[in-house]
Amino acid sequence: MNTDIIFETKNLTKAFGALVAVDDVSIKVRKNSLHAIIGPNGAGKTTFFNLLSGNIEPTSGRVIFKGRDITHQPVHRTIHFGIGRSFQITNIFPNLTVFENIRLASQALGRDNFKFWANSSRFKLYEERAWNVIERVGLKERAYAPARTLPHGDQRKLELGMILAPDPEVLLLDEPTAGMAAEQVPELIALIQEIQKAGDKTVMLVEHNMNVVMSVSDAITVMHQGKVLAEGAPSQIAVNKEVQTAYLGGLYELNV
Ligand SMILES: Nc1ncnc2c1ncn2[C@@H]1O[C@H](COP(=O)(O)OP(=O)(O)OP(=O)(O)O)[C@@H](O)[C@H]1O
Ligand SMILES: [Mg+2]
Repeated sequence: MNTDIIFETKNLTKAFGALVAVDDVSIKVRKNSLHAIIGPNGAGKTTFFNLLSGNIEPTSGRVIFKGRDITHQPVHRTIHFGIGRSFQITNIFPNLTVFENIRLASQALGRDNFKFWANSSRFKLYEERAWNVIERVGLKERAYAPARTLPHGDQRKLELGMILAPDPEVLLLDEPTAGMAAEQVPELIALIQEIQKAGDKTVMLVEHNMNVVMSVSDAITVMHQGKVLAEGAPSQIAVNKEVQTAYLGGLYELNV
């Protein structure tokens, strides 16, 4: 086993009836890298993440995490293995405060290393962990605000905090900047980079903003109609003719 590879898929395939949303995808993700998955709408990116996190089961193929076959593990198990994935906004409890949301995420989903501790000490640890995360995502000033009162940009930070709370090794971020005002995007991206670098974490990122993808990624996998169209470093992807063709007529331009 190559210990440098944290995540690997082998011929991963997911069909919804006649539609093959993920088609024979084999990729390797390096530990501690920022690995982007890009591709036009409907390419299969979200389905691919759902397969990695165990939200859905593949039709065929395998998912390997840290050398272990997790293909048929459900999502509540993969979280304990160290795979964190985006919550949809609806998973935030709107009437609870920022702090309460993050503390709940850390205790409901955390890799529980404290089994033998007394309940009160464990509770204290969850609180400490929650404060660390809140500080990390820059929401300290808002800690006691009900989540529903946060502006959209801060809600995305809260979501990031809730993914971070169980201290995952890999973060699967599906369009974390979606719906954000353009001027807020650099701050969230910088935060994601900081978390990846400082925290020794691997980030897999689906992102439609090509300028962002090209500037932050260590590696890029391009999906098109369920298949891997290309993979490589940003500099290789930017000049790839097939990739440019796939995007022609699409919503996005590769302007790098
Ligand atoms: N549960 C499902 N049942 C049937 N078809 C599905 C299901 N989920 C996804 N699909 C289809 O699979 C294909 C891939 O969808 P997916 O959401 O993975 O694409 P995507 O790359 O994430 O697109 P986007 O950029 O728009 O988010 C699409 O044609 C979609 O309609
Ligand atoms: Mg998607």
